Amino acid sequence: MALELEVIKTSGKPLGKVSIPSSSTIKDLKKEIYKNFKVAVNRQSIRNGPKGRDEKDSLQISKISLERPNSIYVKDLGPQIGWDTVFFLEYAGPILLYGALFLYPQCAYGNETVSKGHGQDASKIFPFFIFPVGLINEICGGSTIKVQDNAYYAGILWSIHYIKRILETAFVHRFSHGTMPIFNLFKNCGYYWGFALYVAYHINHPLHTPPPAWLFYFGTFIFIFCELGNLSIHILLRNLRPPGTSVRKIPVPDSNPFTKLFNLVSCPNYTYEFGAWVGFTLLTGCLPVFIFALAGLYQMTVWAIGKHKKYRSEFPNYPKNRKSIIPFLI
Ligand SMILES: NC(=O)c1ccc[n+]([C@@H]2O[C@H](COP(=O)([O-])OP(=O)(O)OC[C@H]3O[C@@H](n4cnc5c(N)ncnc54)[C@H](OP(=O)(O)O)[C@@H]3O)[C@@H](O)[C@H]2O)c1
Repeated sequence: MALELEVIKTSGKPLGKVSIPSSSTIKDLKKEIYKNFKVAVNRQSIRNGPKGRDEKDSLQISKISLERPNSIYVKDLGPQIGWDTVFFLEYAGPILLYGALFLYPQCAYGNETVSKGHGQDASKIFPFFIFPVGLINEICGGSTIKVQDNAYYAGILWSIHYIKRILETAFVHRFSHGTMPIFNLFKNCGYYWGFALYVAYHINHPLHTPPPAWLFYFGTFIFIFCELGNLSIHILLRNLRPPGTSVRKIPVPDSNPFTKLFNLVSCPNYTYEFGAWVGFTLLTGCLPVFIFALAGLYQMTVWAIGKHKKYRSEFPNYPKNRKSIIPFLI
């Protein structure tokens, strides 16, 4: 049986009619809309009403409850870009910007400030592999860490964080969408690069006073613990979704103890992410890092509340005792 559907933009502008077999999926409908009205498939978001939510590509059209009989709404998402390109650019920027401020302090702070400071050594390159040796020397060899050492170790941990994110994007996450609006490239890069400059400027400043050694080690422990927790949650989420699908399931803890946080919140990856930046604040003793942590917490809280509500409406048996992001609170 064929369905005749009126296609309307979410702004209210009618595009025209399409005729499609009732067994077709949203993906088939998108191709039909492209054929008739020349809106590229990856720019379309199909909705059951002007304010409805995005319907999945795999859904059969006959299963949608339309707000107006025989009318389907399409939102033009604008020009799209592959998510891998966006993620690579937004995460590579902070590594390069931090490295630039560490290696060329004279350019950012001027020769005079650098010479007044604690002897920032711009000739140090970024030899990641010597990090454990340097750290062990620090633990064995004294109770204070000099500014340049603090900026150096912080730079390595900072880079590990962003390299981890790039690797996760390439090898762990199974995203349900292949593209995102091109505007996200500018928005996301603006956010990550802007904060990277702000944070790196302060940590690498020759007059920045580092925290006592015990606080550096305590912060490093929290940072590494939370990075492992964040990775564990991403691996669990990956395993929920069969490859090549956009299936969603209720996440429950597995044998990895880091995933127990799912008993308390819906988005423990965000909880661990915030924890990692609290650890980074302690290990650098730098207030701008905490401001970055709070900005991230705000954004992730907004998303976590949305995801939590979605879980509850999607799965009637969703665990009632979970919060969104902060155990027992939010
Ligand atoms: N510092 C900051 O400001 C900040 C802000 C945001 C993110 N981040 C970092 O970036 C990481 C990734 O962020 P995100 O917002 O993409 O995380 P997310 O929404 O939790 O998703 C991670 C991956 O898991 C999939 N997924 C989520 N729930 C699922 C379920 N119930 N069943 C099956 N698959 C599911 C997602 O697929 P879909 O494509 O279907 O969503 C996505 O591929 C965060 O954990 C955090 O470390 C940092």
